[in-house]
Amino acid sequence: MLGSRSEHFNVSVNYIVLHIAGICLKLSVPFGCTAESDLIVSLIAMKICLTLALVLLFSCAAVPDVPQQRLLAGKAIAFERAKGNCLACHVIEDGESPGNIGPELTKLSTHFKNKQQLRDQIWDASRFNPETSMPPFGKNKILSEEEIDKIADYLWSLD
Ligand code: HEC
Repeated sequence: MLGSRSEHFNVSVNYIVLHIAGICLKLSVPFGCTAESDLIVSLIAMKICLTLALVLLFSCAAVPDVPQQRLLAGKAIAFERAKGNCLACHVIEDGESPGNIGPELTKLSTHFKNKQQLRDQIWDASRFNPETSMPPFGKNKILSEEEIDKIADYLWSLD
């Protein structure tokens, strides 16, 4: 479920961690001091700093791209008959008695360049296929912009 945004985020976190480690090293080496006890103190200081940096790394890496609650809200809108009713035409994971007029909605990150393009498909599918039977959910205001955003987030997360 990790998108490119969170990978980018992890790279940034790694960069920050390396930076913190570097600063710790500078701080922990006392100026011109060669005594063994000072070296031990500086090594302990470095160890503490690195531990803190690792804690920071793991706590950040655990944060998902989109909050679970938002994904569930998107799923509910997609499944609800009076809202998206996407199951009338599409198989979607966990969806009961789906139709098969459209393709199964899964691994959409391999069909669309990005989440915006997936959103465009939901907003007005005739952009991609003028003959489509899929309703233009945004253009015809069947769903609100916010509801379409949530469905796009949800569908983008399906692997
Ligand atoms: C009346 C049937 C129908 C309904 C309802 C419908 N779709 Fe579709 N959808 C289709 C068809 C048919 C396609 C195949 C491509 C085309 O015709 O444009 C499609 C294609 C798609 C695609 C592209 C899939 C791919 O792999 O390229 C997405 C994404 C999609 N629909 C999302 C939705 C969502 C989200 C909803 C509900 C909000 C929905 N559809 C409701 C008929 C429907």
